[in-house]
Parts: sequence; C-alpha cells; structure tokens
Amino acid sequence: MPKSIKKSVLSLSIGGLLILASLMFAGITSFATGSNSQNAASSLSTPVLSSVSNTDTGIKISWGKVTGAEKYRVFYKNSSGVWVGIVNTGSTSYTWTGAKSGTKYTFTVRCISADGKTYTSPYDKTGKTINYIAAPKISAASNAATGAKITWGKVAGAAKYRVFYKANGEATWHKAGDTTSTSYTWTKAKSGTKYVFTVRCISADGQKYTSSYDNTGKSLSYIAAPKILSAVSLSTGVLVSWDKVKGAANYRVFYKANGEDTWHKAGDTTSVNYTWTKAKSGTKYTFTVRCITKDGKSYTSSYDGKGKAQSSTFTTSKGFKGEVKNGVVYIDGYLIANKTYPLPKSYGDGITSAAQSAFNKMKEGAKKDGITLSIASGYRSYSYQNKIYNNYCARDGKKEADTYSARPGHSEHQSGLAMDLNKVGNAFNGTKEAKWLAKNCYKYGFILRYPQGKTNETGYVYESWHFRYVGEDLAKKLYNGGDWITMEDYFGFTSEYC
Ligand code: DAL
Ligand code: ZN
Repeated sequence: MPKSIKKSVLSLSIGGLLILASLMFAGITSFATGSNSQNAASSLSTPVLSSVSNTDTGIKISWGKVTGAEKYRVFYKNSSGVWVGIVNTGSTSYTWTGAKSGTKYTFTVRCISADGKTYTSPYDKTGKTINYIAAPKISAASNAATGAKITWGKVAGAAKYRVFYKANGEATWHKAGDTTSTSYTWTKAKSGTKYVFTVRCISADGQKYTSSYDNTGKSLSYIAAPKILSAVSLSTGVLVSWDKVKGAANYRVFYKANGEDTWHKAGDTTSVNYTWTKAKSGTKYTFTVRCITKDGKSYTSSYDGKGKAQSSTFTTSKGFKGEVKNGVVYIDGYLIANKTYPLPKSYGDGITSAAQSAFNKMKEGAKKDGITLSIASGYRSYSYQNKIYNNYCARDGKKEADTYSARPGHSEHQSGLAMDLNKVGNAFNGTKEAKWLAKNCYKYGFILRYPQGKTNETGYVYESWHFRYVGEDLAKKLYNGGDWITMEDYFGFTSEYC
C-alpha cells in the first residue's frame, strides 16, 4: 500500500475540503480541475457496498464487482466528516484492522485506476455504517477450584460476553454461559476432557452477537479440583479421602493446622486416600488435595481452598454417614474393614456373638438342604494376619498377595464378623456348598463379601468362601436378587491402600 494512501482523503460536498483533497492526491487531476468528486474521469458504476461486518481481526467491508474497475479505494469517514482512504485493492472485500472497538464507522468504496492516481467511478456518499466491537482476546483458560476458568481482555463497547466451548475434537461451538465480567468459570466441564474455549460479545439482552470471535480459541485439559470426602483420625494417622479425579496422574495432600494461613505438603499419592502420620495430638488440622503430574513437578488442577477439617464424622460419596469410634470406622452403623479403612492393632477378640449365632442358624438351615457348613477361618488377630500376609508376600510377591490377602489391620477377619467357610481357595468355587451359600446366606444376615467381577470395588479377587455378617436387612439389599452389590458400591466408599 503506498504511504500517501494512509493520509488520503476524499472530498465530501463540503467545498473547503476539496482543496485538502487535491493537495493530498496530487496525482488525481479530476479533483483539481474542480469537477465534483462524483464526476470521475472515466465513469464506471458506483460500487455497491454489500456488507460491513465485525470479524475476529477487524471490520470487513465487502462490495459488488464493478465492470471495468481496475482497483478500488476503501474509505472511512473520520470524526470531522472527512472520508479517509484506508486501502487500494483489486479485491472486492477488505478487512480493516485499524478500527477501535466501541466506535461507529461509516465506509464507502470508489473505483480507481490501477496506478491509484485517478478515480474511475462515483461513490456512495451515505456508505455503510457499523458499530465496531472487537472480538474478545482470550488471555487464559485454566483449571479453577469449581470449573474451567476463561479470562479475556475487556472489549470497549461490549455489553456482555458469551463463552463457548468445544470438547475433544468437536467441530461446533456450544454455549457455556453469559457474563458481563471479563472471566467466566464454567462449572460443567468434565474432568479429563480437552476443551477449547472462545468468547463473543453479545447485546445486553443476549439476543444478538455484537462482535465476532477467535475461532481458534484457547485450549485446556480440564482436571477438576479433588473433592475431599473425609479427614478422620484413625489408629494409623489422619486418613484423608477424596473422590477420584478423572485424568489425574497423582495427588498431593496438604495440611494446615487450625488457625494457620498456609498449606503445607503432607505427601503425594496415586491413591484416593492418604494417611498422614505426622499429626500432633491435640491439634486440629484441615486438609486439601491437588492433582499433580506423574513426576510431581507441576500442578494439573486447582484445589478446594477451604479444605476439609479433621472430623470424627463424614459423608460418603453416596451420602451415607461415616463415623469413627475408638479408631474404628462405621458407615451407616456398619463396621468397615477394607484396604481404605484399617482396624486398630488391638481390635477384636473372636467371632462376635451375633455373627456366631447367625452362623449357627445358617448351619442348621443348610443341614436341612443336605449342606454341611463349617468355619475354616474365623477371627484372625492383627499379628496372625501379619504372619499369613507376609507368608503370601514371600510366596507370590506383595503385588500379587495384595489381590487376595489383606495387610495386617485391614482384614475383615479381625473384626470378628467375617468367616471363611468350608474350604479356602478356588476349589470351593461352584461346589454345591458354595452355590447354596451364595443363594441363601443373606437370609441369615451374611453377605458374599468379595463377589466375582467386583475387584475394582472391593479391592480383592472373587472369594466364594468369605462371608461377612451384616444383619438380615442389609444382607438382603446387597444380595439384590442374586446380583450381589458390594458394601463399597452400596455405601459409596473406596477400598484402596493409601
Ligand atoms: N482374604 C481376605 C481379603 C483377607 O485377607 O482378609
Ligand atoms: Zn476370608
């Protein structure tokens, strides 16, 4: 574009301006000879403006092709009412990037000679007017505590903004929400999903778009802030539990002694539980959790700034009440012993009387059906479980042993409520005794504690011989017409070592 064009002005019907026009366009004799600006040297048709619109980079002016036109000059009317040339082009549209957001502009177009020296047509004196509103420039898309946060620069003249998202490779934009602010936290983002966001200016009533938008947008791998379920003091330390976060590689647990302002690192884990062993007795703590990369070098999510205060009660993910009494966890009143919830070392002294009498009744009932039941392994103390677990570890390795044998403190056998019946091992699977038990145990208040295909809930492989006494009400619910539900699933808690 020739430099002089920038300063070029096209005369209006205001006489005085003609002089200015002729000075600026030294080469355009048609003005200098005093001919009205509408009487061009070689008169082609007046270009017809088809549209002026706000695009993501500026204002786009489009017009119809004029037969015989070599080039066009685009003008805008400045605040003094003077037409100022902005470009010479051979095309039939031009996007002007020099416009200021929040300003009204009027444009017109005139044919010019190829060398830009002579006007070859009249021009539309009215022109086409637009209120220019720039497309918002997105400055950041980040993981916030309550959702995906999108931030952009204030756009002069914008009444409101609409935020859009596109999930993983989607082609179309969907509305996330509207705001008058310059940031928006979208709470419906799904953790573990890659999103792209963009923002568009809208009218105050939300009925019209007033700007264009950046179609590339800003992308974000959304990882939700962990929702902390509980922080309870157990015999092993403070057990902090949270909901699994989709897309999270690792977690970092933080603590704050009550009254403190800053979070301190407690530790990292890949599990959804963490037992913090450094708590000082008599001090109450608050905990929070944040997702981190596998190498622990950066945060991948935000965190709940309020955190969860240490408490002896909690609510499970399915809304049941949890309670710690003497270091033992009860959920909805039922004692829990699994990979997440240990029992104190000293807990237990034999099969409870309720479990024993329920077993006796079941044994009687079985007998009537020609089935003989016996207890192969009932109560197991912490130290006995320690011995057998270590034996299994020595034989099969820790990883394998963990799939079928509980670590000391984590065995349900220590509760006095669990028993292995008849024969421990897969040889018991499918026997008439195993079948009878799976079908009838609930009538006596027992549950098949580790059903087939529920390893990711219970933490253990299928055990056709391991039964847990819970009482008839719950047993019937978990029996579920023969399609066993686990305690973990029913109440909404995990079975995962820290
Ligand atoms: N076999 C079960 C899981 C236990 O060791 O308690
Ligand atoms: Zn068992």
